[in-house]
Amino acid sequence: MKVIIESKEKANKLAAEQYVKLLNSKPDCVLGLATGSTPLGLYAELIRLNKEGIISFSKCSSFNLDEYIGLDGTHDQSYRYFMNTNLFDHVDIRKDHTFVPSGSCKSDEEAALYDEAIEKAGGVDLQLLGIGHNGHIGFNEPLTPFESKTHIEKLTDSTREANKRFFASIDEVPTHAITMGIGTIMKSKIIILVAFGEDKAEIMKKTIEGKPTISVPASLLQLHTDVTVYLDPEAASLLS
Ligand code: GLP
Repeated sequence: MKVIIESKEKANKLAAEQYVKLLNSKPDCVLGLATGSTPLGLYAELIRLNKEGIISFSKCSSFNLDEYIGLDGTHDQSYRYFMNTNLFDHVDIRKDHTFVPSGSCKSDEEAALYDEAIEKAGGVDLQLLGIGHNGHIGFNEPLTPFESKTHIEKLTDSTREANKRFFASIDEVPTHAITMGIGTIMKSKIIILVAFGEDKAEIMKKTIEGKPTISVPASLLQLHTDVTVYLDPEAASLLS
């Protein structure tokens, strides 16, 4: 794992450079995208680069990590809505080339078809990840199997608690999500993980310096050959 510690602004610019490199060398690349508050600065940077003509998304396609079960794409807390409003509506990507797992998915068999669609598109070239306080990536909660494909995951109480800030009350936070599996994520050619803030310091120490374990899903990224982790000084504050 390559670890880069910079201010948020600099980290977003450096991460954006990975997109410039990829989109300019392989315009029809496949991007793996993430939601959460962390990628917002990076998305703003990608929008700026697109508007300035430095990058184009016109030939690429994208697959998002996850979606809440029970929310359709028009719900303002759905991840489809998040992606439209925070990235897709502002860049030259073809909407019909953007994929977000379906919040109406009913079974793991159906969910796994998402992996087939990713493979058919050529596999993810660059996967962006945030991280939950318990080390979840996408919505892969602790103990999700290493080989897992896209599947339905029961959200832990701590994840629902952390995400309730976006809903009127905890009762409205969905109990389940559909997420790319750990196995799906590990197949990506290049992975970027971004974490900012002191509240991510403890989990980043476990992720980077702990033994790889399914108890801390993000720590399994140590087993991937091309991962860059972008941290601000606060998120890196417990690293030795
Ligand atoms: C959610 C998403 C994750 C994200 C995490 C952290 O649980 N499913 O993909 O990484 O939140 O969110 P934030 O970036 O807001 O801390």
